[in-house]
Amino acid sequence: MSKIVVEKSPPLKGTVRVSGAKNSALPILAASLLGTEDIVLEDVPSLRDVDVICEVLASLGSEVERYENGKIKINSANLNKHETPYELMSKMRASFLVMGPLLTRLGKAKTSLPGGCAIGTRPIDLHLKGFKALGAETDVDHGNIEAYADKLIGDRIYLDFPSVGATENIMMAAVLAEGETIIDNAAMEPEIVDLANFLSKLGADIKGAGTSSIRINGVERLGGAIHSVIPDRIEAGTYMVASAITGGDIIIENVITSHIKPVIAKLRETGCEIWENGDKLRVIGVDSRNAVDVKTLPYPGFPTDMQAQFMSLMSVSKGTSVVIETVFENRFMHVDELKRMGADIKIDGRSSIIQGVDSLTGAPVKATDLRAGAALILAGLIAEGQTTIDHVYHIDRGYDGIEKKLTKLGAKIYRTE
Ligand code: EPZ
Repeated sequence: MSKIVVEKSPPLKGTVRVSGAKNSALPILAASLLGTEDIVLEDVPSLRDVDVICEVLASLGSEVERYENGKIKINSANLNKHETPYELMSKMRASFLVMGPLLTRLGKAKTSLPGGCAIGTRPIDLHLKGFKALGAETDVDHGNIEAYADKLIGDRIYLDFPSVGATENIMMAAVLAEGETIIDNAAMEPEIVDLANFLSKLGADIKGAGTSSIRINGVERLGGAIHSVIPDRIEAGTYMVASAITGGDIIIENVITSHIKPVIAKLRETGCEIWENGDKLRVIGVDSRNAVDVKTLPYPGFPTDMQAQFMSLMSVSKGTSVVIETVFENRFMHVDELKRMGADIKIDGRSSIIQGVDSLTGAPVKATDLRAGAALILAGLIAEGQTTIDHVYHIDRGYDGIEKKLTKLGAKIYRTE
């Protein structure tokens, strides 16, 4: 099992380019099941999760061709299976996003229930509430979930929580349903807008993506499209914190700065200098940072996917900070690992109280989820000595070449087999 080794590194310097967004590429790849003509996706990040969903699409009858430069060509004209293979579903919960497309295109969909993971139980009740509102029957048994309907009929659906996945799955089911669907309290993340833009290129009729109310008018069929995936705002935020925590001075390219305002604001509050220039950000870290409080919220609030990375930074900032995680019920798995490195953190329910320390010490730690892994790499950059991170497959799911990109910035990081 390979590990990532991080040693205390000098302040990071140089330029890094952000890849396409994982959380945009995955729903857009699932939505490719809806097209009946050639689809070309560009700027798709090279990630394990992308590999898995491409295998799922191929197992359902889509033709999938991958090219070196982040381009993927898909044709789902001959989509002929409605059931996804268990061994692929169990690798990644986002595979559940094929349910909406299969249900609306074939009238039925069967997949294994997505497991929970380190950060929470990850229920799918809101996804099923949406499918049922559109007229589908659903059966859950022996770990499988099946949904079927002769024809989906548009309806109004209120989401009890602005779930990103539920918004995406229901939107994808509604594009071929009869009549109008309205999703109230919809998620407003940029990845929802990117998915809606892709679906509209295929011929869908969608209004309001990016607001809390999305209106979809069903159409007969969807064609093909060429679409470039938006940049990954969480990858960008991760490199911003890398510069902040090492007191570095880096330029981050391929950033949509409006997608990452909360992280820019909070890093400025710590004392970092951040310059915005088109699709570039310059992040200049300072040696002694102020501790600031953070509360994660659905977009446009501070992203939960940046919480662990920010906690690493607060672990070595001056003073006490409170980090409140409101989106997932168990997203503090990285705290124990950071404490092994000398961080002073106390958990109280959904809050963590972090007392900044002068320095951390390298230790053997393990990545418990994707963003926790990134947080441990960040902590390792400034910890005395060597930090060895196990379970790096979590990191490979969501970061395209993280050690190469960090090495280019001067980090001492390498992978051992
Ligand atoms: C997406 O997950 C992202 N994944 C997550 O990124 C991200 O953390 C999350 O949105 C929140 O922004 C992808 O886009 C592939 P949710 P998703 O449904 O859709 C509850 C990463 O690190 N909920 O918005 O699964 C749920 O329990 C990953 O890149 C229900 O109660 O997130 C959670 O508490 C991690 N019922 C909250 O909503 C449901 O039916 C947010 O979940 C669905 C969700």
